[in-house]
Amino acid sequence: MKASVLHPDVARYLLDHCTRPDPLLEELTAETLAATGDSAGMQISPDQGRFLTMITQLVAPEVAVEVGTFTGYSSVCIARGLSGGRLHCFDVSEEWTAIARSYWERAGLTDRITLTLGPAADTLAAFDQPVDLAFLDADKPGYPAYYELLVERLRPGGLLMVDNTLWSGRVADPADEAATTVTIREFNDLVTADPRVTTVLLPLADGLTMIRKN
Ligand SMILES: C[S@@+](CC[C@H](N)C(=O)[O-])C[C@H]1O[C@@H](n2cnc3c(N)ncnc32)[C@H](O)[C@@H]1O
Repeated sequence: MKASVLHPDVARYLLDHCTRPDPLLEELTAETLAATGDSAGMQISPDQGRFLTMITQLVAPEVAVEVGTFTGYSSVCIARGLSGGRLHCFDVSEEWTAIARSYWERAGLTDRITLTLGPAADTLAAFDQPVDLAFLDADKPGYPAYYELLVERLRPGGLLMVDNTLWSGRVADPADEAATTVTIREFNDLVTADPRVTTVLLPLADGLTMIRKN
């Protein structure tokens, strides 16, 4: 099961009481495990997927952005929630996003998704549209730079969701000085202190921060 700060029994109960993924997403999970091995742990969890679809339906974005696509689970969930808008996906991996592309095709979502390959700091800097909804789930050292680029582009009232912000709960352990723990802890402090936004850190999966631009 995906990292969660909840007791494993509670985490299982929670998953059992979210609407189950459909067979296509189940297949994507299995194919991701077979194709990527240990990296499959990067995939978002089914409850997060449901949450992303629901939030997308509520926000009804014209322009949605995803930084960190991997094999496509979160992008399928966001794109399924769109009602006429477009999802712009950013990733560096041709190999992993080839799997994503095949599932967009099978899910009938190809016409509402654009994929741009390259380092997200560059591709986001070149992206010049106002953003209504964004999901950040890429390399953790890049979070502060991606955050700045995304907040600059968010329209007032726009929403940014950031994954892994509890880092298995390690951010709350002052004795944990591992590089990624420190990076995420500093990132969380940066967001909390930013007067441009209002933020809530949810204990969903590995921590999901909801950031609304004021
Ligand atoms: C945690 S995974 C994303 C998981 C995905 N959201 C899902 O639901 O399966 C992180 C992704 O970030 C991508 N990535 C890593 N460094 C990057 C960079 N500098 N720019 C853009 N994407 C990057 C990786 O290729 C990987 O696909």
